[in-house]
Amino acid sequence: GISTLGALAGCASPLPGTDDGGGRAVTPRPTVTADPDTSVSLTATSGTIRPASDASTTTWLYDGQYPGPELRVQEGDVLSVELANDLQEETTIHWHGIPVANPVDGVPNVTQEPVASGDTFTYKFRAEPAGTYFYHSHVGLQLDRGLLGPLIVEERDPHVAYDHEYVVVLDDYLSREPRLPSDGGMGGGGMGGMMGDVRPPYEGLLINGQLPENPPTFDVTEGDRVRFRFVNASSATVFGVRTAGHEMSVTHADGQPVEPVEADSFVFGAGERYDVVVEATNPGRWFVQANALDGNEPPARAVVEYESTDGSITPQPPSSSSNRLQYGDLRALSSLDGVSGDPDRTFDLTLSRGRNQSYTWTIDGQAYPDADPLQIRPGEHVRIRMTNQSPVVHPMHLHGHFFQVGNAIKDTVIVPGHRGQVTLDFHADNPGRWLFHCHNLYHLDAGMARVVEYV
Ligand code: C2O
Ligand code: CU
Repeated sequence: GISTLGALAGCASPLPGTDDGGGRAVTPRPTVTADPDTSVSLTATSGTIRPASDASTTTWLYDGQYPGPELRVQEGDVLSVELANDLQEETTIHWHGIPVANPVDGVPNVTQEPVASGDTFTYKFRAEPAGTYFYHSHVGLQLDRGLLGPLIVEERDPHVAYDHEYVVVLDDYLSREPRLPSDGGMGGGGMGGMMGDVRPPYEGLLINGQLPENPPTFDVTEGDRVRFRFVNASSATVFGVRTAGHEMSVTHADGQPVEPVEADSFVFGAGERYDVVVEATNPGRWFVQANALDGNEPPARAVVEYESTDGSITPQPPSSSSNRLQYGDLRALSSLDGVSGDPDRTFDLTLSRGRNQSYTWTIDGQAYPDADPLQIRPGEHVRIRMTNQSPVVHPMHLHGHFFQVGNAIKDTVIVPGHRGQVTLDFHADNPGRWLFHCHNLYHLDAGMARVVEYV
């Protein structure tokens, strides 16, 4: 679990590293039996959306909406969600980032049987810790059809002051049925762009379900402090995000509080979240915007427009200097238990494209599901070192646990291309079978996953 630094100082946490290999008793997170504080149902259906006034398309939705309805609860509340499957195929829901008990994690054939067409399944868990999360289908490429929505767990005592907040869900959008390329070709045939990678046939990049020609508007008044909760719910896009005309104070990474750090932009991998606070001190018409770092689609955008209250509008031009957030700038306000000192177990993993004819992505040469589980023991301090032997970025996500990377606590981390290396540490405190995978959905579907298994 996560403890505040204050609490940690007085806390007798178990000593790491015993001679028998480090395994220590950890009890499985109990299935929640308490009555829920919030009960909702989500129906997965197909339906029509209008991402721009002159564009409509049929896709898959939760409760007829894309993005799906915002779920918002207080930290520690018990949330119960009944999924009703009105699709013609099986589905599940995963609660991205929340360390739930294993049976409700929503991974088909790993934590549950997929929910058949016409069936229902109830997920019940305690929503903690506070943070910005999202939920999505974990079956095949369904996330890319629109089966996703924001999940906000409100903190009781935010460490930053703000006047109001907006949730900003970024996505890349497909109007056609998504599918993997049928061969191992180098992404040819209209998929161009990323060398050696598949690039889906985008219809456009979206903020909160709207294409750039029909951007949503965020109401702001001069002097407001506005919290934006950014969610990268896209299937394959690494975004560069900025709030034009305004510096951002980054306050949370993957939902977890950090020492506020000033930046004018950040790089945003699929599955990551950042919360930022922006002060409305530069009246005018501005865009919150997100461009694909490796593509040339028009950037997703939302409008922020406000006037000077005394009528003297003096907009400052966007600054030409660049102050892009780096992972190294992030300092978590809390610390993760059980990851100090030397690890009990280390995995060195290579991320690479498969060598065979078919389109595959591998972790240490193996493509899921034909891949060995990463076996760990309860209580261990586990380290995963990743080296990316491909030219493209892999946003790697671990289910059921937060991990420490540098001084940040995250659940999804970008491993840069061209031999980029990232090391993460986590405490094996949530027994079960958990997926560890690339959150580029096309890489996941092509094998870039392993099960982390407690033995
Ligand atoms: Cu959003 Cu397996 O992940
Ligand atoms: Cu990947």
